[in-house]
Amino acid sequence: MTCTSKSAKFDAIGGCGTAHTPEECSERPRAGSQVASAWENTMIGQGFCSSMIRSFACGPGLSHGVVWALLIGLFALSLGGCEFSDRNVLGYSKGYKPLQPISYSHKIHAGELKLDCKYCHFGAESSERAGVPPVNICMNCHKLVRTDSPQIKKLTEYCAPDKDGKCTGSVPWVRIHNLPDFVNFPHSRHVDKGVACQTCHGPIQEMPEVYQYANLSMGFCVNCHRDYNSNPPADLKDKHLHAAIDCAVCHH
Ligand code: HEC
Ligand code: HEC
Ligand code: HEC
Ligand code: HEC
Ligand code: HEC
Repeated sequence: MTCTSKSAKFDAIGGCGTAHTPEECSERPRAGSQVASAWENTMIGQGFCSSMIRSFACGPGLSHGVVWALLIGLFALSLGGCEFSDRNVLGYSKGYKPLQPISYSHKIHAGELKLDCKYCHFGAESSERAGVPPVNICMNCHKLVRTDSPQIKKLTEYCAPDKDGKCTGSVPWVRIHNLPDFVNFPHSRHVDKGVACQTCHGPIQEMPEVYQYANLSMGFCVNCHRDYNSNPPADLKDKHLHAAIDCAVCHH
């Protein structure tokens, strides 16, 4: 399976979602039969759910219409009968740690230098995407800091400063977290309510290289929504959380 463009989209289940490069796609097969069987494993005893998911997941090239018909069908039954579990879920890229073009360290910048996550990921509070910072942000410091280092020389090449010193280029960072296109995940709705980055991303400030900490399965999302509604962590108790578990909230 290969993706040919940035937004290459295969069928919702067997494909690779939004893969940035063909390499990334072949490195990270998304869903497919491995995931389909993991789903079945997590739903043993849930006969109906299991067979719905199997036919859904294994059908060749399902159209969006069929996907919706199935979603609506499952919705009618509601999630009540299906217990979502994170056990034995393979193929969700937990631990994924691609080689990056620059050996940028969160341990140095977010840990030792204590830079605020939102100084660089400024989309996290107000929009769907947290975003990865433009290289100009790096050059705020690295115009002067460690300019002798080969890594910073490489960074300056990616920046390709114009005559005023503004970057005209960018760093081709390899994306780590990547949900399938049929899932809607708004950062702002979580960050706004006070859910810490580390709840989902782990101890980023200790990572010399970022890796995917959570498996990002549907169970990861739905189980937390349920837990936080019924028994929110102490520091969020006064927020009166209501994290939806309707299909349409996450699947648009
Ligand atoms: C100085 C800028 C800077 C700061 C501060 C920073 N980051 Fe990052 N972050 C980056 C860059 C650049 C990348 C892309 C390269 C990489 O993955 O290491 C990145 C990548 C990430 C990713 C992975 C993105 C993906 O591709 O899926 C996560 C998650 C993340 N940062 C979370 C955090 C958190 C949480 C904090 C605070 C504890 C933080 N970052 C602080 C610059 C920063
Ligand atoms: C607030 C200032 C600041 C910002 C912003 C910043 N850095 Fe740094 N960076 C530093 C400092 C200070 C060090 C040196 C730490 C040391 O010497 O141990 C460093 C070290 C590094 C190193 C290691 C250099 C070496 O060879 O030892 C790399 C690579 C790097 N930064 C990349 C980046 C990238 C990429 C960004 C943007 C996403 C960025 N930095 C943003 C201050 C900053
Ligand atoms: C409730 C869980 C959760 C929380 C809290 C969270 N993230 Fe994320 N983050 C995700 C998921 C899921 C993705 C993948 C989104 C996708 O593929 O559409 C992601 C992706 C990212 C990315 C990759 C680029 C992007 O925007 O998709 C960065 C960077 C990132 N998060 C940083 C942060 C930072 C910084 C914080 C805190 C200010 C934070 N996240 C809080 C779950 C979370
Ligand atoms: C750590 C717990 C946690 C995890 C994990 C989590 N969420 Fe949430 N989610 C919340 C909370 C808390 C809210 C805010 C509820 C509120 O506004 O009262 C929320 C809100 C949302 C909303 C907005 C709901 C609305 O009513 O508009 C969406 C959409 C959403 N989450 C999707 C996801 C998806 C998709 C994932 C998995 C990739 C996920 N969440 C993972 C805790 C979580
Ligand atoms: C809180 C967010 C959230 C809610 C609510 C939610 N989903 Fe999902 N769903 C996800 C995420 C994230 C994925 C992608 C990861 C995965 O496949 O587990 C997904 C994947 C799926 C898949 C594809 C499974 C596969 O094998 O790839 C189906 C089918 C699905 N959801 C159906 C539903 C139905 C039906 C409902 C309502 C009863 C629902 N979802 C509610 C987040 C959610």
